[in-house]
Amino acid sequence: MSSQPVLACQAPPDVETDDCLQEYTYLFSPDILKGQVAFITGGGSGIGFRIAEVLMRHGCRTVIASRNLQRLTEAAKKLSAATGQRCLPLVLDVRQPQTIVAAVDEALKEFGKINILVNNAAGNFLCPASSLSFNAYKTVMDIDALGTFNVSKVLYEKSFRDHGGAIVNISATLHYKGQALQVHAGSAKAAIDAMAKHLAVEWGPNRIRVNNIAPGPISGTEGVRRLADPRPSGNSIFQLIPLQRMGNKTEIAHGVLYLVSPLASYVTGTTLVVDGGAWLTSPNGFSSLLGTASHSAKL
Ligand code: HXC
Ligand code: NAP
Repeated sequence: MSSQPVLACQAPPDVETDDCLQEYTYLFSPDILKGQVAFITGGGSGIGFRIAEVLMRHGCRTVIASRNLQRLTEAAKKLSAATGQRCLPLVLDVRQPQTIVAAVDEALKEFGKINILVNNAAGNFLCPASSLSFNAYKTVMDIDALGTFNVSKVLYEKSFRDHGGAIVNISATLHYKGQALQVHAGSAKAAIDAMAKHLAVEWGPNRIRVNNIAPGPISGTEGVRRLADPRPSGNSIFQLIPLQRMGNKTEIAHGVLYLVSPLASYVTGTTLVVDGGAWLTSPNGFSSLLGTASHSAKL
């Protein structure tokens, strides 16, 4: 553990790839999640991988669940090796409730309980509304919005209703200003933000807290690879962010750590924006972003 003072807006170290951190400074108690079990959708890559790592470094065991078993299995090995905690990789598609039920049953068989859910799975690409097919809009709504509801409902029925729990959904800030080329993802994330309020109200009496984190642009992620402007001048956009930089995956994971921990024991139904102030100042020019879209091949 380092004894260097950490400045309040200094980025913690991170790595760009889906690998564990080479160094980690504990700011919260290392035991703050001791004995807990977290179910993290999309935990095999990007932000979800780092969330799994940081929760595991604080004593939590994890399930990482998505469609690609090979990537999940490799991720689980790395996560366990770096943290000494167990990580169970399981296949599911958040659009298919029966696959969620099977995965949650398997996780409960393995760990006996689940206390934390992180709804992180999502799909996105840049596309103007006029070019978006009906199915493209539906696909993103299905993964992001319905998927978040599906997994929350299965975990409510199988565990949280009787034992309590903490849910964190990974949202975005796209809908705050109606981000160009993002009607599908922005609509889905707006639904997630609303869903957290509804579920916080209905499930509070069951000792379930439900919150969102809305990241800004986060380095080393598929999200930024797909959505950021690859042209050289594109970097200058970060100078428009109040904190003058992109965020990193560890910073999102730290937000999740706070929200699922007892430090947030009275926090529910809210959204924590972790974006360096970006949504307040970032440009949202439809015509200039169309130039960006032309660089984004259909992925
Ligand atoms: C326009 C597209 C498209 C693109 C797919 N579609 N990619 N339309 N532009 N680039 C259309 C397809 O043509 C099809 O419509 C429909 O979407 C479904 O496509 P499929 O490939 O059949 O879907 P599926 O296999 O289910 O894959 C879902 C996916 C895919 C979202 C399209 O990209 C995926 O699996 N993504 C997961 C990883 C990901 O996106 N990570 C980034 C998250 S970042 P038609 O009409 O042809 O049938 C993020 C950041 C938010 O969310 C904010 C950042 C600041
Ligand atoms: P990512 O690595 O592509 O993460 C998305 C994950 O979702 C993948 O692990 C993927 O795994 C999983 N997934 C996709 N469709 C699924 C499905 N149908 N069922 C189950 N799992 C599915 O991208 P990321 O950039 O780290 O994004 C993570 C989260 O942060 C997302 O909610 C995103 O909207 C949000 N976010 C990101 C940024 C950013 O700058 N990156 C900004 C704002 C918000 P499989 O392919 O194995 O299914």
